[in-house]
Amino acid sequence: MKYLLIVASLSIASAGVIKEEACDGVRINGTYYEKEIIKTDLDRPYLLTVDYSTNTLYFSYSIKSDEDIFKTARIDLDTNAFSDIDIVNGFAQTVDYEHQKVFIGSNDGIYKYDHDTNQVEFVGQRGSDIWAIYYDDVLYYSEFPSQFLYTLSNGTATRFKDLEDTKVDHFVTDGDNTMFYTNATGLFSQKKGTKDAVLIEEFPHNGPRGLTTNKYEDVYVCMRDGIYEVDKTQPSLKKIVDVDDCFGIAFDIYDEIIYADWKSLIRLKESDIC
Ligand SMILES: *[C@@H]1O[C@H](CO)[C@@H](O)[C@H](O)[C@H]1NC(C)=O
Ligand SMILES: *[C@@H]1O[C@H](CO)[C@@H](O)[C@H](O)[C@H]1NC(C)=O
Ligand SMILES: *[C@@H]1O[C@H](CO)[C@@H](O)[C@H](O)[C@H]1NC(C)=O
Repeated sequence: MKYLLIVASLSIASAGVIKEEACDGVRINGTYYEKEIIKTDLDRPYLLTVDYSTNTLYFSYSIKSDEDIFKTARIDLDTNAFSDIDIVNGFAQTVDYEHQKVFIGSNDGIYKYDHDTNQVEFVGQRGSDIWAIYYDDVLYYSEFPSQFLYTLSNGTATRFKDLEDTKVDHFVTDGDNTMFYTNATGLFSQKKGTKDAVLIEEFPHNGPRGLTTNKYEDVYVCMRDGIYEVDKTQPSLKKIVDVDDCFGIAFDIYDEIIYADWKSLIRLKESDIC
């Protein structure tokens, strides 16, 4: 069950009315950011991605607390308008920026989604439970439960050579032809076209729940206790924000951090009030 891997760590302590208090935001590198709640009362918002061409956030969330039933939804980041997307068990989402296409992986294959017409179109891999999906030069996806990474090109799925010896949980690439991925061992980087994996950090217990890049191609990781930036020179992880039960991360067109905790989507807005 996918559920077992993303089960919440039952932090109900912070439930209840959240009163906005002055200066309860976060400071990153000297700059103060307010926490703006974009949407709340969601169950474990997961696998966040932003389409910069429409400033729309795509993510999935659980619709049954104890079963593998998910739904992909979208939020217009200019108006915070929310809507569900009509795909059964939509789970993983990615954007092909060049062709302005959104791809959504479900427990029964991959779909293309048209933002303007709200239409979905089946792409392929009927019967596959899609675990992760990422568009770069081609569409990459991994399947559940094998967690093997494939490319889908022209309707043909091929096991991705560079990572054929490993499981892949989260996967992104930066603009420098380097892949970043997680598996049950840890977080790795690896130049495309090679098998030279570089360990960034080991995760013997709880691995990352989210992996993303911003528009400067810096790589960020969401762990249960917060958001970390990858220092590519070291290589290592540096914590930048504390989060209680982080579930996902993405950046909007203004390079603001959007993250999920176990029930809300939150934007960190730069502010000079504190
Ligand atoms: C913090 O500031 C330094 C120096 O301006 C910069 O090199 C670094 O990328 C910044 N880090 C973050 C997380 O913004
Ligand atoms: C994709 O398939 C079509 C038809 O089978 C073929 O004409 C085209 O060359 C293929 N493109 C690539 C990139 O393989
Ligand atoms: C994770 O990836 C590393 C580097 O490719 C590999 O050595 C390791 O065996 C992988 N772990 C799993 C559980 O697949």
